[in-house]
Amino acid sequence: MSSYAARRASLIAQMQARGGGVAILPTAPEVHRNSDAEYPYRHDSTFYYLSGFVEPEAVIVLVAGKKNQSILFCREKNSEREIWEGFRHGPDNAREAFGFDAAFPIDALDAILPKLLADQPALFYALGSNSALDAQVQGWLKKVRTQSRAGITAPSSAHDVSGLLNEMRLIKDDSELAIMRRAATISAEAHARAMRMAKPGLHEYQIDAELLHEFRRHGSDFPAYTSIVATGANACVLHYRAGATVLQDGDLVLIDAGCELDSYASDITRTFPANGRFTPAQTTLYELVLAAQHAAIAAIRPGQRFMDGHDAAVRILSQGMLDTGLLDANKVGTLDDVITNGDYRHFYMHRTGHWLGMDVHDVGEYREVNDTTSEGGDKPWRILHPGMTLTVEPGIYVRPAPGIPEQYWNIGIRIEDDVAVTADGAEVMSSAAPKTIADIEAMMRNT
Ligand code: GLY
Ligand code: MN
Ligand code: MN
Repeated sequence: MSSYAARRASLIAQMQARGGGVAILPTAPEVHRNSDAEYPYRHDSTFYYLSGFVEPEAVIVLVAGKKNQSILFCREKNSEREIWEGFRHGPDNAREAFGFDAAFPIDALDAILPKLLADQPALFYALGSNSALDAQVQGWLKKVRTQSRAGITAPSSAHDVSGLLNEMRLIKDDSELAIMRRAATISAEAHARAMRMAKPGLHEYQIDAELLHEFRRHGSDFPAYTSIVATGANACVLHYRAGATVLQDGDLVLIDAGCELDSYASDITRTFPANGRFTPAQTTLYELVLAAQHAAIAAIRPGQRFMDGHDAAVRILSQGMLDTGLLDANKVGTLDDVITNGDYRHFYMHRTGHWLGMDVHDVGEYREVNDTTSEGGDKPWRILHPGMTLTVEPGIYVRPAPGIPEQYWNIGIRIEDDVAVTADGAEVMSSAAPKTIADIEAMMRNT
């Protein structure tokens, strides 16, 4: 059985454990850009996770009943459209190639779904994520209810199927980890290329082009998210893109960029000096962020909680803010005060990481949602297990302000790696991107 079929079987088993029913799982809609142009199509991650099928206009229907069934609805073959848009599998081909029990044209949904939903106890569907399909599903349920005099019942309960699937996606299997390692390695090479090419006088977009070159030449379809290439003060704008600012001698360049490969994201940040040499002030803050990142990675292993890495990073960054005078101990008090009161947020305002997978901010709960010991308070943070993948991305961002030591103004630094939880620790999948000051300066000298 392919891993896709095995995942469908696993979901059906979980539906059976909840009394059975029908799951309806659409892929993503195509997004129109203007006149005849569309945005590049990207399938829905969960749909792909269950099928490996990348065409738009497709829906998976899983029946967990007396007889289990795995059904694909997709576009029919169309010789004219295929001349313009390319190959379509068509239902017969797709059923065979993707291992479904049955496949039908997408236009047959309205005719077939009311029959499949008849006498089923429950609907498994992510209501609210696709308004066009929501309306269709309501129509099918209405149609089933009109048959009540014939003794046919409609599903009487609904489950949010995305909760089950998100938990499946949270733990990556070996084939997923292999792709993620490769995606991270390509992105790491792109960061190294950017370091080699960077020099004062270039525009941010020219560095962006180097990243894209490296992604594409290794077969990546597109970046996993909009790349950030931010130089000087731009590095302190968290969601900056790659603009037209010219790299200046003496400034840092922050690059947050990762390719998507075979539907899996990578997400790496490196920060380096435009001229290839860190200044003393840049060195101080860089070593601080690097130490925070090492501490956060050291806190990743089975049994630790998701937030332990963040807490470790915050502790080191906060101490560094006091040591460097970014925070004035006379005003903010001790290290514990800084952490308790959140003063560090002035310079470090985001979390140290997130789940990573098919989506760059991947699915999966961050807390133990089934925990019953928390008595109405926050549920405890998630315990890490082998196969979970996450980013570790501490940073420090210093905007000019009175009272802030001037040598740190406009320095923005983030160091981000992609980490897999292993049986006894953590694997840094993106370790090929130069990270120590010595390695970065050597890469920039091309030595
Ligand atoms: N690039 C998105 C993030 O770092 O979360
Ligand atoms: Mn990132
Ligand atoms: Mn990230």
